[in-house]
Amino acid sequence: MVLARRAGADERPHRIARLRADRLAAGLPLLDLSDSNPTRYGLGAPEALSAVAAATVRASTYDPDPRGPLPSREALAALRGGRPDDYWLTASTSEAYSWLLTLLADPGDLIAVPAPGYPLVEPLARFAGVGTVSYPVHYLHPHGWWIDLERLDALVQDPRVRAVVVVSPGNPTGAYLQAAEQDRVVEACARTGTALIVDEVFGPYALDGRPSSAAATSGCLTFTLDGLSKLLCAPQLKLGWLRVSGPAAQLAEVGRALDQVADAFLSVGAPVALALPELLALAPGSVARTRERLRVNLATARRVLDEQYRVRRCDGGWTFLVDVPRYLADDDLAAALLDAGLWAHPGWLYDLDSPGALALSLLPEPATFETGCMRLRAAVDALA
Ligand SMILES: Cc1ncc(COP(=O)(O)O)c(C=O)c1O
Repeated sequence: MVLARRAGADERPHRIARLRADRLAAGLPLLDLSDSNPTRYGLGAPEALSAVAAATVRASTYDPDPRGPLPSREALAALRGGRPDDYWLTASTSEAYSWLLTLLADPGDLIAVPAPGYPLVEPLARFAGVGTVSYPVHYLHPHGWWIDLERLDALVQDPRVRAVVVVSPGNPTGAYLQAAEQDRVVEACARTGTALIVDEVFGPYALDGRPSSAAATSGCLTFTLDGLSKLLCAPQLKLGWLRVSGPAAQLAEVGRALDQVADAFLSVGAPVALALPELLALAPGSVARTRERLRVNLATARRVLDEQYRVRRCDGGWTFLVDVPRYLADDDLAAALLDAGLWAHPGWLYDLDSPGALALSLLPEPATFETGCMRLRAAVDALA
């Protein structure tokens, strides 16, 4: 049997992933400080599942539309702007990326991704036979992050680079795309005919910073991504969407091609797609509750960890970065934390080039979160 390399057939699990699996297999307890599954922490809107159940009755007749039901796209356009026909419903944001890779890039082409950044786009690109090149995002404490625009400018000169991915706010950087950065990125994309993909899934969760305005733009071909997994803390509902904007002359052709991709899959379940207007109405309450949780936990992290360690500026999102003294190399630190019954993502997982950074989740219940921070501090101090 031969499996494709792009499916990761020749990859071995990483050492710390194996150590983690061994610990769990041995039945030993583990407090996951990086867990960003909101359904484990009492977040989201309890009414969401009833809204989908109610819509199930309306789904008895199948009426497929590659973009998703019109009333749901009308609700999105009313909330986020644009026209209903600018939206495509997908089963998740990850699927939206996958469709866009099919739409924009041929095997051997490249997309530009931020480093540090969420390690999701690289495998999705690889599955499509597409490579990734990274543009650096730099940090200066306590001011925050900025995109290396010169490097990005140089990357998009390469005709193989078909799209630039921006995540706003970034995961794990928490940095929003600033208006001046957006202007420069749009200008570089417009000049070189490169598409722009803006992942806004954490957009409403502003913490140290202010949310940037929505990235839909007419300057270059732009795709903005969002979905219920973050907006309603409901990854299990499996509903995301993408919005297309850009120069009017390009939109009809893009729409036809994207319809073909979407029509081949028709992957969105009808009940959740039909329930979208009701689900969007639940979002403000859910977002407010989640943001309060994030705010309280970030303050706790600063109180417990900032004295000895450095909690980085976190403009928004569900993850924060803490720099701990580098008694050990990243993997040895993660392994030592595992021995102490703690799991924390080391920075290299997100392409952070500074050793000793950990990416931690802000979602847990406040008491669990505080215990986690105190145990982390004790475990790192014990290494000194
Ligand atoms: C920045 C970012 N984009 C997209 C996703 C995937 O979202 P979805 O569950 O809609 O596929 C994640 C998941 O954590 C993420 O962090």
